[in-house]
Amino acid sequence: MNIAVLGTGKVGSTLGARLTLRGHRVLYGSRTPTGPDRLDHRSAVTSSDLVVTALPGNDVLSVLNEIGDEALGDKILLDPSATIIPQTATEHTGGEVAVRIQTRFPRTRVVKTLNTMNFAIMVDPLTSVPAATVFVSGDDIAAKTVIIGLLGDLGWPDAGIIDLGGIDTAAATEQAGSLYFAIVRALGDTRFNLAVSR
Ligand SMILES: NC(=O)c1ccc[n+]([C@@H]2O[C@H](COP(=O)([O-])OP(=O)(O)OC[C@H]3O[C@@H](n4cnc5c(N)ncnc54)[C@H](OP(=O)(O)O)[C@@H]3O)[C@@H](O)[C@H]2O)c1
Repeated sequence: MNIAVLGTGKVGSTLGARLTLRGHRVLYGSRTPTGPDRLDHRSAVTSSDLVVTALPGNDVLSVLNEIGDEALGDKILLDPSATIIPQTATEHTGGEVAVRIQTRFPRTRVVKTLNTMNFAIMVDPLTSVPAATVFVSGDDIAAKTVIIGLLGDLGWPDAGIIDLGGIDTAAATEQAGSLYFAIVRALGDTRFNLAVSR
Protein backbone atom coordinates (compact mmCIF):
# COMPACT_ATOMS: atom_id res chain seq x y z
CA MET A 1 0.00 0.00 0.00
CA ASN A 2 0.95 3.65 -0.32
CA ILE A 3 1.05 4.94 3.25
CA ALA A 4 1.46 8.51 4.52
CA VAL A 5 3.00 8.60 7.99
CA LEU A 6 2.44 12.06 9.48
CA GLY A 7 5.12 12.86 12.04
CA THR A 8 8.72 11.64 12.00
CA GLY A 9 9.20 11.05 15.72
CA LYS A 10 9.45 7.76 17.60
CA VAL A 11 6.13 6.25 16.48
CA GLY A 12 6.27 7.57 12.90
CA SER A 13 9.80 6.44 12.20
CA THR A 14 9.30 3.04 13.90
CA LEU A 15 6.07 2.21 12.05
CA GLY A 16 7.36 3.70 8.79
CA ALA A 17 10.55 1.64 8.86
CA ARG A 18 8.74 -1.62 9.57
CA LEU A 19 6.02 -1.02 6.98
CA THR A 20 8.71 -0.21 4.39
CA LEU A 21 10.45 -3.46 5.30
CA ARG A 22 7.16 -5.27 4.67
CA GLY A 23 6.94 -3.88 1.13
CA HIS A 24 4.71 -0.84 1.62
CA ARG A 25 5.65 2.52 0.09
CA VAL A 26 5.89 4.98 2.95
CA LEU A 27 5.91 8.75 2.48
CA TYR A 28 6.47 10.82 5.59
CA GLY A 29 4.54 14.03 6.19
CA SER A 30 6.60 16.52 8.16
CA ARG A 31 6.76 20.18 9.18
CA THR A 32 10.26 20.08 7.68
CA PRO A 33 9.92 18.42 4.27
CA THR A 34 13.46 17.75 3.16
CA GLY A 35 13.50 14.98 0.61
CA PRO A 36 11.70 12.73 -1.84
CA ASP A 37 10.10 10.62 0.89
CA ARG A 38 9.71 13.45 3.45
CA LEU A 39 7.04 15.78 2.13
CA ASP A 40 4.71 18.39 3.51
CA HIS A 41 1.66 16.87 5.18
CA ARG A 42 -0.80 17.41 2.33
CA SER A 43 1.52 16.10 -0.40
CA ALA A 44 2.21 12.94 1.58
CA VAL A 45 -1.53 12.34 2.07
CA THR A 46 -2.46 13.11 -1.53
CA SER A 47 -0.01 10.45 -2.79
CA SER A 48 -1.20 7.75 -0.37
CA ASP A 49 -4.14 5.41 0.25
CA LEU A 50 -3.77 5.24 4.01
CA VAL A 51 -2.74 7.85 6.59
CA VAL A 52 -1.06 7.29 9.97
CA THR A 53 -1.32 10.19 12.46
CA ALA A 54 1.92 9.71 14.43
CA LEU A 55 1.50 13.20 15.88
CA PRO A 56 1.01 14.65 19.36
CA GLY A 57 -2.66 14.00 20.16
CA ASN A 58 -3.36 17.66 20.83
CA ASP A 59 -2.04 18.62 17.36
CA VAL A 60 -3.67 15.93 15.20
CA LEU A 61 -6.82 17.88 14.35
CA SER A 62 -5.02 21.10 13.44
CA VAL A 63 -2.68 19.19 11.09
CA LEU A 64 -5.65 17.37 9.50
CA ASN A 65 -7.56 20.65 9.17
CA GLU A 66 -4.64 22.11 7.25
CA ILE A 67 -4.53 19.04 4.98
CA GLY A 68 -8.25 19.49 4.35
CA ASP A 69 -11.32 17.41 3.55
CA GLU A 70 -10.58 17.01 -0.13
CA ALA A 71 -7.11 15.47 0.34
CA LEU A 72 -8.27 13.18 3.14
CA GLY A 73 -11.46 12.10 1.36
CA ASP A 74 -12.45 8.54 2.26
CA LYS A 75 -8.91 7.36 2.97
CA ILE A 76 -8.28 5.01 5.87
CA LEU A 77 -6.70 6.82 8.82
CA LEU A 78 -4.82 4.85 11.48
CA ASP A 79 -4.67 6.95 14.65
CA PRO A 80 -2.20 5.75 17.31
CA SER A 81 -2.09 9.13 19.06
CA ALA A 82 -2.53 9.99 22.70
CA THR A 83 -3.09 13.27 24.48
CA ILE A 84 -0.35 13.85 26.98
CA ILE A 85 0.21 16.81 29.28
CA PRO A 86 3.47 18.13 27.73
CA GLN A 87 4.89 19.43 31.02
CA THR A 88 4.97 16.02 32.64
CA ALA A 89 4.59 13.68 29.67
CA THR A 90 2.93 11.31 32.06
CA GLU A 91 -0.76 12.07 32.45
CA HIS A 92 -3.54 11.54 29.97
CA THR A 93 -5.75 14.60 29.49
CA GLY A 94 -8.86 12.62 28.59
CA GLY A 95 -9.26 14.13 25.15
CA GLU A 96 -11.02 11.77 22.76
CA VAL A 97 -8.93 12.28 19.63
CA ALA A 98 -10.29 9.55 17.33
CA VAL A 99 -13.95 10.46 17.84
CA ARG A 100 -13.15 14.11 17.21
CA ILE A 101 -11.32 13.20 13.97
CA GLN A 102 -14.20 11.00 12.82
CA THR A 103 -16.77 13.68 13.65
CA ARG A 104 -14.80 16.42 11.87
CA PHE A 105 -14.02 14.22 8.81
CA PRO A 106 -17.08 11.95 8.42
CA ARG A 107 -15.92 10.49 5.07
CA THR A 108 -12.49 9.52 6.36
CA ARG A 109 -12.39 6.00 7.79
CA VAL A 110 -10.74 6.38 11.17
CA VAL A 111 -9.35 3.35 12.99
CA LYS A 112 -7.80 3.71 16.44
CA THR A 113 -5.14 1.20 17.34
CA LEU A 114 -1.62 0.73 18.77
CA ASN A 115 -2.20 3.46 21.40
CA THR A 116 -1.94 1.23 24.47
CA MET A 117 1.76 0.37 24.25
CA ASN A 118 5.22 1.80 23.87
CA PHE A 119 6.38 2.50 20.29
CA ALA A 120 8.94 -0.31 20.38
CA ILE A 121 6.23 -2.84 21.28
CA MET A 122 4.12 -1.70 18.30
CA VAL A 123 6.49 -3.62 16.02
CA ASP A 124 7.79 -6.17 18.52
CA PRO A 125 4.75 -7.82 20.16
CA LEU A 126 5.93 -11.40 19.99
CA THR A 127 9.52 -11.39 21.10
CA SER A 128 9.08 -9.06 24.05
CA VAL A 129 6.12 -10.63 25.83
CA PRO A 130 4.43 -14.04 25.59
CA ALA A 131 0.90 -12.65 25.42
CA ALA A 132 -0.02 -9.32 23.91
CA THR A 133 -3.25 -7.58 23.02
CA VAL A 134 -3.78 -4.77 20.55
CA PHE A 135 -7.18 -3.10 20.37
CA VAL A 136 -8.90 -1.82 17.24
CA SER A 137 -11.80 0.67 17.10
CA GLY A 138 -13.51 2.03 14.01
CA ASP A 139 -16.87 2.38 12.27
CA ASP A 140 -15.84 1.07 8.84
CA ILE A 141 -15.51 -2.72 8.74
CA ALA A 142 -13.48 -2.76 5.50
CA ALA A 143 -11.04 -0.19 6.89
CA LYS A 144 -10.59 -2.29 10.04
CA THR A 145 -9.86 -5.34 7.89
CA VAL A 146 -7.09 -3.40 6.13
CA ILE A 147 -5.67 -2.19 9.45
CA ILE A 148 -5.77 -5.71 10.91
CA GLY A 149 -3.74 -6.80 7.86
CA LEU A 150 -1.20 -4.07 8.60
CA LEU A 151 -1.04 -5.19 12.24
CA GLY A 152 -0.14 -8.61 10.89
CA ASP A 153 2.65 -6.97 8.88
CA LEU A 154 3.89 -5.39 12.11
CA GLY A 155 4.05 -8.81 13.77
CA TRP A 156 0.72 -9.05 15.58
CA PRO A 157 -0.90 -12.50 15.56
CA ASP A 158 -4.66 -12.59 14.86
CA ALA A 159 -5.27 -14.02 18.34
CA GLY A 160 -3.85 -10.87 19.94
CA ILE A 161 -6.12 -8.46 18.06
CA ILE A 162 -9.39 -7.43 19.73
CA ASP A 163 -11.89 -5.44 17.68
CA LEU A 164 -13.67 -3.36 20.30
CA GLY A 165 -16.34 -2.08 17.89
CA GLY A 166 -17.13 1.41 16.62
CA ILE A 167 -14.96 4.50 16.85
CA ASP A 168 -16.75 5.49 20.08
CA THR A 169 -14.87 2.62 21.78
CA ALA A 170 -11.56 4.37 21.06
CA ALA A 171 -12.25 6.56 24.09
CA ALA A 172 -11.74 3.50 26.30
CA THR A 173 -8.21 2.87 25.07
CA GLU A 174 -7.39 6.58 24.97
CA GLN A 175 -8.39 6.83 28.63
CA ALA A 176 -6.14 3.87 29.39
CA GLY A 177 -3.18 6.21 28.94
CA SER A 178 -3.15 6.86 32.67
CA LEU A 179 -3.00 3.11 33.34
CA TYR A 180 -0.13 2.77 30.87
CA PHE A 181 1.94 5.46 32.63
CA ALA A 182 1.10 4.09 36.08
CA ILE A 183 2.49 0.72 34.97
CA VAL A 184 5.60 2.39 33.51
CA ARG A 185 6.21 4.10 36.85
CA ALA A 186 5.60 0.90 38.83
CA LEU A 187 7.83 -1.30 36.66
CA GLY A 188 10.37 1.35 35.72
CA ASP A 189 10.20 -0.08 32.22
CA THR A 190 8.26 0.43 28.98
CA ARG A 191 8.79 -3.06 27.58
CA PHE A 192 5.45 -4.57 28.53
CA ASN A 193 2.05 -4.97 27.00
CA LEU A 194 -1.50 -5.23 28.19
CA ALA A 195 -2.92 -8.69 27.54
CA VAL A 196 -6.52 -9.85 27.83
CA SER A 197 -6.57 -13.43 29.10
CA ARG A 198 -9.68 -15.58 29.17
N1 LIG B 1 6.15 7.09 22.01
C1 LIG B 1 5.33 6.08 22.33
O1 LIG B 1 5.79 5.06 22.88
C2 LIG B 1 3.85 6.18 22.04
C3 LIG B 1 3.04 5.08 22.33
C4 LIG B 1 1.68 5.14 22.02
C5 LIG B 1 1.15 6.28 21.45
N2 LIG B 1 1.97 7.35 21.20
C6 LIG B 1 1.39 8.53 20.60
O2 LIG B 1 1.79 8.58 19.22
C7 LIG B 1 1.96 9.94 18.83
C8 LIG B 1 3.39 10.16 18.36
O3 LIG B 1 4.25 9.88 19.45
P1 LIG B 1 5.84 9.98 19.33
O4 LIG B 1 6.37 9.31 20.53
O5 LIG B 1 6.26 9.54 17.98
O6 LIG B 1 6.06 11.54 19.48
P2 LIG B 1 7.35 12.35 19.02
O7 LIG B 1 8.54 11.47 19.06
O8 LIG B 1 7.33 13.59 19.81
O9 LIG B 1 7.05 12.67 17.48
C9 LIG B 1 5.92 13.38 17.07
C10 LIG B 1 6.20 13.97 15.71
O10 LIG B 1 5.08 14.78 15.35
C11 LIG B 1 5.53 15.96 14.71
N3 LIG B 1 5.09 17.11 15.51
C12 LIG B 1 5.50 17.47 16.76
N4 LIG B 1 4.85 18.58 17.18
C13 LIG B 1 4.02 18.93 16.19
C14 LIG B 1 3.09 19.99 16.02
N5 LIG B 1 2.89 20.92 16.97
N6 LIG B 1 2.39 20.05 14.85
C15 LIG B 1 2.59 19.12 13.88
N7 LIG B 1 3.48 18.10 13.98
C16 LIG B 1 4.17 18.00 15.12
C17 LIG B 1 7.05 15.91 14.63
O11 LIG B 1 7.42 15.43 13.34
P3 LIG B 1 8.02 16.48 12.26
O12 LIG B 1 9.09 17.25 12.99
O13 LIG B 1 8.54 15.64 11.16
O14 LIG B 1 6.89 17.38 11.84
C18 LIG B 1 7.41 14.90 15.70
O15 LIG B 1 8.59 14.22 15.41
C19 LIG B 1 1.59 10.79 20.05
O16 LIG B 1 0.25 11.14 19.99
C20 LIG B 1 1.85 9.84 21.20
O17 LIG B 1 1.11 10.17 22.35
C21 LIG B 1 3.30 7.32 21.47
